[in-house]
Amino acid sequence: MNDESSEKEDGQAAVIAHRGASGHAPEQTMPALEKAIEMDADWLELDIQMTADGELVAFHDDEIDRTTDGEGEIGDHTLEELKELDAGSWFNEEYPDQADESFEGVEILTLEEIFDEFGEAENYYIETKSTYLNEDMEEPLVELVEEYGFDEAGNVLIQSFHQDSLEKINELNDSIPLVQLLWWEVDEETGEMEEWLDITPAPEDMTEEDFADIAEYAVGLGLHLEYYDGTEVIDESFVQTALDEGFEVHVYTINEEEDMQRLLDWGVTGLFTDYPDRMQNVLEEK
Ligand code: G3P
Ligand code: CA
Repeated sequence: MNDESSEKEDGQAAVIAHRGASGHAPEQTMPALEKAIEMDADWLELDIQMTADGELVAFHDDEIDRTTDGEGEIGDHTLEELKELDAGSWFNEEYPDQADESFEGVEILTLEEIFDEFGEAENYYIETKSTYLNEDMEEPLVELVEEYGFDEAGNVLIQSFHQDSLEKINELNDSIPLVQLLWWEVDEETGEMEEWLDITPAPEDMTEEDFADIAEYAVGLGLHLEYYDGTEVIDESFVQTALDEGFEVHVYTINEEEDMQRLLDWGVTGLFTDYPDRMQNVLEEK
């Protein structure tokens, strides 16, 4: 599966298993990662947070309440405390149609455990999450990637909404490919768009200079298709502009086959999806 590139040799868009195959199993746990691999995903997408004792764990939310039987901020808990939590039963309750007894009691995983389990055979699309809480996570992350030789093997890509986090990583090791995530907020009354962290203006107002600033450190852009209210924030022409500027264009989080088909027709080079199996169906039909 490790093709050493976010774009496959055959030119097909990359299947990025969002938090693992998280439509089928509890996000970022072993069953979700194993299912993503069974579904032949090209990348295992992982959100990384830091525990109170400085361990890097695969976990999306700042708080543990939604996806475990614990409470409070993840960064207020040690790894030992987090390991005692049940990170799977919530999924069975939330998605009874997909429930499986084996999900009960599954653990939060450290990034190191994931690297140990799958090694160089898999590709890891790692997000530095909530860096306002996880101060200085970049150094231990890059050290771990280097320890496993994944910077040289080319099977790690790091993404973030936080530009300073990506710039830090680029300074620590400029051989790790980076993806700048962007999120545009839409004013529901005026329809005007504003980028959440003020990294760029609205897509249609982005200049060559805006793209060039990001190209200083990143090889790709991670874009969302829709705002919460369903307003589409990007279109085919913006995707084409980003491609012309030399970026990989990966869109999150696309779960409907119709949208997958449309975005692939626009030329995107990868899609984040909770359902890698659906994306494989779409790619097969193309
Ligand atoms: O990393 C791309 C996408 O996953 C960003 O959204 O909130 O699911 O991490 P989120
Ligand atoms: Ca993510």
